[in-house]
Amino acid sequence: MATEETSALAVDGAHEHPTLHMHNVAEVIPTLPLETRWPPFAHRRYRGFWVAERFLLALAAFNDQFEPAPGDVLLVTCPKSGTTWLKALAFATVHRAAHPPSSADHPLLGRNPHGCVRFLEGIFFGRSVDEARDVLAAACPSPPRLLATHWAYSQLPECVTGGCRIVYICREPKDVLVSWYWFLKKVVAYGATSDHEPDPDLDFAELYEVFCEGRNGYGPVWRQAAEYWEASRERPDKVLFLRYEEMLRDPPGNVRRLARFLGCPFTAEEEDAGVVGAMLELCSLEKLRDLGVNRKGTPGMSTVSNDVFFRKGVVGDWRSHMTPAMAATLDDIVNDAMRGTGFSFTDS
Ligand code: A3P
Repeated sequence: MATEETSALAVDGAHEHPTLHMHNVAEVIPTLPLETRWPPFAHRRYRGFWVAERFLLALAAFNDQFEPAPGDVLLVTCPKSGTTWLKALAFATVHRAAHPPSSADHPLLGRNPHGCVRFLEGIFFGRSVDEARDVLAAACPSPPRLLATHWAYSQLPECVTGGCRIVYICREPKDVLVSWYWFLKKVVAYGATSDHEPDPDLDFAELYEVFCEGRNGYGPVWRQAAEYWEASRERPDKVLFLRYEEMLRDPPGNVRRLARFLGCPFTAEEEDAGVVGAMLELCSLEKLRDLGVNRKGTPGMSTVSNDVFFRKGVVGDWRSHMTPAMAATLDDIVNDAMRGTGFSFTDS
């Protein structure tokens, strides 16, 4: 990655806090800027990005304990950018020899994609060293290890950015915000009510304000995307940069890119046998959303149920939530912030 001095993404004061470790985390976290308007957790700004306090604790444990293994792949996203889809596609692609996509007992038919590819935040939060090691081993029984996170590139330790392959997917920010809104309506309600009906009191305008300030969970969304985009330009063999809108426009082309990057391109025989189509069918929003396991149940995160990850999956739903003026304001904020980086959400 470009040095702090040369990168247009450098953040003032981004490195004024020490790297988080278990021995300093209790001391450092209270010194980080605090944001409490983005539900359901308190967030702190660490190295330029807002992360829930509990996931900073996980990052500290991860920094101390994680040892990359050959072939490790990290799937990275801002929440609501297509994480669930990417997890399903990567899992189905990498494990297609053991689990052909058309098999009746495919793991994705019985487990939510978040149960097939686990978040590092979940593995390392609130666990002893031994427990985290066991959970990690159980999460990835066969190589390559597929893991996921929402942490920013500049928050990851050198052993990861230098050693692991990373697949990043970005999504246009206005649609990310709308997706967050419907997700949080359910998540907040899940914690607060017994019937789990969407929370009628969560106000879109309030979330919009926080999001525009870049102070939502893992925000600013645009800065996170630009960092991974820059890394993908510098090390295309290590970082694959995907776009949600492009994946919707050309699913087969993007799955082939993913498979090539992961070192398991589709063979001519597989192409002839329609494996790509079967994979896309298995991982489609309609298929996953309608599975019994995804209409209920939790993937191991206490605050959410599986159905919250599946909604419309379209481009441009922001139009039914934002006035043209709101959209233009957010567009201007993003464009201003990205000036000089070379990154744009509309590039193909
Ligand atoms: P919408 O809320 O706009 O419908 P994440 O997985 O990062 O939480 O992102 C959730 C978004 O991805 C939601 O967008 C959801 O509908 C969409 N999504 C989930 N599974 C998908 C799939 N298999 N294909 C395409 N989009 C999917």
